[in-house]
Amino acid sequence: MSIIDEIRSKAKSLNKTIVLPESEDSRILEAVQELIKEKIVKVILIGETDKIQQDAKENKININGAEIISVNDERYKDAFAEKYYELRKKKGISLDDAKKAMQSSIFFAAMLVKENLADGYVAGSISTTGDTLRPAIQILKTAPGIKTVSSYFLMVVQDKSFGINGSLLFADCAVVPDPSAEQLAEIAICTAQNCKKLLGVDPKVAMLSFSTKGSAKHESLDKVIEATNIVKETHPEITIDGEIQFDAAIIPKVAQKKAPGSPIEGQANVLIFPDLNSGNIAYKAVQRLAKAEAIGPVVQGTARPINDLSRGCSVSDIVNTVAITALAT
Ligand code: ACO
Repeated sequence: MSIIDEIRSKAKSLNKTIVLPESEDSRILEAVQELIKEKIVKVILIGETDKIQQDAKENKININGAEIISVNDERYKDAFAEKYYELRKKKGISLDDAKKAMQSSIFFAAMLVKENLADGYVAGSISTTGDTLRPAIQILKTAPGIKTVSSYFLMVVQDKSFGINGSLLFADCAVVPDPSAEQLAEIAICTAQNCKKLLGVDPKVAMLSFSTKGSAKHESLDKVIEATNIVKETHPEITIDGEIQFDAAIIPKVAQKKAPGSPIEGQANVLIFPDLNSGNIAYKAVQRLAKAEAIGPVVQGTARPINDLSRGCSVSDIVNTVAITALAT
């Protein structure tokens, strides 16, 4: 069974409810059809029932079984605005601002999750990463002990000798532009924990840079070294090495030469990039040049699961992201 089939099958057994706020996108409606048909999750769509039913009919999509909730639903409209106002009034917003925010389907979706009416939300097929993440950061906030929301990609490469049968986690490739040493350590810890959760194996974490064990000296390396030390001190159970170059992290023969005695022995399955430039470029390079499957970005560090789609996503990308979200609940 492929890793994706395993994820979909695990999600089915959990019977979670995921909100999809971008109901005006026909790819979302097609994904809903599949999610319901395959019984992967229960779905809540945000929008006006007549409009959504009409769009589905025009596109010959069957969305029977999906719950549809309007942002103007009297059961929630005022209560959600007041709750959001309470959460954000110290930032200077008025009740009117809160009412306006709750007219946004993604903010409304975040509030449904906050109020335990759903287990998570997935958006981003027509919204930017920022617009998808901000409601989660403001309303759901971070998980206990975590200060930074970040993300990982599950990369599935064709050469099965890498990672776990070709599966590796790359982070952070989508959220934190220039992490501090503390933030980089948190990104490594969250991704290591998700490696165990998603792939069922012990993580081997590589803190990547252009230097291996002091082979180069530059101030930009200091935060990678500091982050590695923070993880070693706070989470001694995590197998980690850094600073280390990409080849020494994933190829045992190179590791023997460049990093003899490395605890990850050139067999890293979690690759942590020093900043968003390097992480974002690397995942796209591997995806395009090595024809790897890139599943994500999977958001981590929020108190409840949410995920961000790429605006170029396919229907199966949406279904897979929803399944991953259900697994994280
Ligand atoms: N984790 C936790 N809290 C955060 C984070 C974070 N990563 N980032 C910002 N915050 C908090 C701040 O502490 C602040 O909190 P407060 O209002 O309670 O004081 C609030 O969010 C606003 O902070 P800003 O710095 O103004 O953050 P902003 O809302 O502008 O943006 C965001 C945050 C959306 C995560 C931003 O960092 C971003 O856009 N990142 C890049 C995303 C991107 O463009 N990726 C492109 C690649 S995606 C792809 O290729 C698939």
